[in-house]
Amino acid sequence: MNISERLGIKFYKEQVEQFLIDKGKQTEEALHQYLGQLQCPGPGLIEAMEYSLFAGGKRLRPALVLGSAEIFEGDIPKVMPSACAIEMIHTYSLIHDDLPALDNDDFRRGKPTLHKVYGEAVALLAGDGLLTLAFELLASTGNADVVAEVARSAGVNGMVGGQYLDIRAEGQKITIETLQEIHRKKTGALICASLRCGALLSNASSEGLYAITEYGKHLGLAFQIVDDILNVTGDEKTLGKPVGSDKEHNKSTYPAILGLAQAQELALEQTHKAIRALDCLGEKAEIFRQLAIYMLSRNR
Ligand code: FPP
Ligand code: MG
Repeated sequence: MNISERLGIKFYKEQVEQFLIDKGKQTEEALHQYLGQLQCPGPGLIEAMEYSLFAGGKRLRPALVLGSAEIFEGDIPKVMPSACAIEMIHTYSLIHDDLPALDNDDFRRGKPTLHKVYGEAVALLAGDGLLTLAFELLASTGNADVVAEVARSAGVNGMVGGQYLDIRAEGQKITIETLQEIHRKKTGALICASLRCGALLSNASSEGLYAITEYGKHLGLAFQIVDDILNVTGDEKTLGKPVGSDKEHNKSTYPAILGLAQAQELALEQTHKAIRALDCLGEKAEIFRQLAIYMLSRNR
């Protein structure tokens, strides 16, 4: 039985692909515009930021911001700065994650990692530049709740803290609960914040905000479980990064703790919960139900 049969929902893959292409294009136009406005302090730094920002990411997080705004009938130009800001934060995190002090990876998205091309010092600063520019853009929304939301999700109680727990857990035996906490913070928090920013900037009702938050929590977890699974079963060329690196680094992952089949079951269960969370939003949330299935069946 395939995934969509098990979830009891018909899956329209092309619809999601088109959604991601459209949102990705809009985001990239805006990203070019924001980067183009920067005063260059000398050759190299902005090019380095652009190298990673336009390296072929899926643009999932901005698509979540924009899609959420559409569900809550918000205004796209109003949410675009936050969509781009979150993509910049995501990009900075990948640049720093690949550095020799952390994962020491040579390839990402099928291209040499930033420090391999520009050196470690420039990679560090390009990441810092993206992170600070992100907060300048968030401030431009004039909504302090949105700035705080993203700060919390990216900081010590979110992505940075999750990354810290993750490196501390290398080579250790950890429980599934600890692994869940790591993933919730490291990956889930920014995914959830993306959805919440779109909703907050579109004046969603508290019921709507609750529903989209629940969707985000389950989607974020499913996303990271699939990421772990792809590190075992994926194709290096399609993924654009090394396969098997988690095992090599002795990382605690869902497949390592539960085994592949149970990890796959858990990803399906989380996807199901994500889809159920959207019940009260009706038809207008259909693209997010489809997106959850797409994310579960992705190969990169
Ligand atoms: C892949 O996203 C990325 C993740 C699954 C998140 C991993 C989290 C970190 C590396 C946190 C690092 C944090 C710090 C502070 C260094 P994706 O599949 O959406 O990537 P894409 O943009 O390439 O498509
Ligand atoms: Mg890594």
